Amino acid sequence: MSSATQEALGPLHDYVEYDHASDNFRDDVLHGLRQSPKRLPSKYFYDERGSQLFDDICELPEYYPTRTEMALLRTISADVAALVGEGATVIEFGSGSSTKIRILLDALNAPAAYVPVDISREHLLMSAKGLADSYADLRVVPVCADYTKPFDVPDIEGEKVRAGFFPGSTIGNFTRSEAVSFLHAAALDLGHNNGLLIGVDLRKDEEVLRAAYNDSAGVTAAFNLNLLHRINRELEGDFDVEAFSHDARWVPEYGRIEMHLVSARTQDVRVGEETFHFEAGESIHTEDSHKYDIEGFKALAAEAGWNSIECWTDSDALFSIHLLRVA
Ligand code: AVJ
Repeated sequence: MSSATQEALGPLHDYVEYDHASDNFRDDVLHGLRQSPKRLPSKYFYDERGSQLFDDICELPEYYPTRTEMALLRTISADVAALVGEGATVIEFGSGSSTKIRILLDALNAPAAYVPVDISREHLLMSAKGLADSYADLRVVPVCADYTKPFDVPDIEGEKVRAGFFPGSTIGNFTRSEAVSFLHAAALDLGHNNGLLIGVDLRKDEEVLRAAYNDSAGVTAAFNLNLLHRINRELEGDFDVEAFSHDARWVPEYGRIEMHLVSARTQDVRVGEETFHFEAGESIHTEDSHKYDIEGFKALAAEAGWNSIECWTDSDALFSIHLLRVA
């Protein structure tokens, strides 16, 4: 660990880092661009610029999920606290800026610890430090890991129960079968009788969905296109970013928004040593965002070994938060 990192840790007691935390951006990009249709994994959106753009998306008038989920969390936090009970270790899968967790921590009865799990090390440590500064009595144990792979929850003194936290409808970025595998692995990470509070975006009017991913300020477009800038910068790519455009479409048969980057013309693009050919109108599929209905999500969770304890939605039925327990 570097001394800068050590310093950043400040009041944090422990820190755990997994080897698999270093992804292979190059291999994944080359592999994706060799496919037909071409694809790129959405997890690579979140470099520094991409994380900033994502934070900007969350503030957009058209992007309803973040503000709806935050307001819903505030409404239900006392109920959640009562159902979870005292002395909980809260494990957040993909903790990012650790913003939403504050709503929960403010309501929980004497939580034993907060364990943020995230792949982006610097962001994880900075956010964990900020949280530890705000909650002086809380034990904060950051784990740097890819939360889609198995990891051990650290032993926490005085822990009575574990509660996973997976907000933001990030589960929607997985295919149905990936979502089942993730939930199954999370059940193993957390253990029998422990809970998971998970945010799930709901199916709704097509126009509302489409607008949320095609904002008028063009922030989502910039977020999508930033992936090409990142490839150019980090992998010696020569994408002419101007020659690609953002496209977000609702695909009813899969119940998902798909994001694509569409080539405006016939062109060849080099990434490192390799050249990729694009036809005019050909796209790179960059993200899926699945939308569920309540019963459909409960059924999916049940397949992965979870019982539904409670489910809450906002009054416009835009977004849902489920409390599940390991069966
Ligand atoms: C927070 C990852 C779930 O799919 O809505 C926002 C990401 N993509 N706008 C989503 C995203 C385009 C977001 N997730």
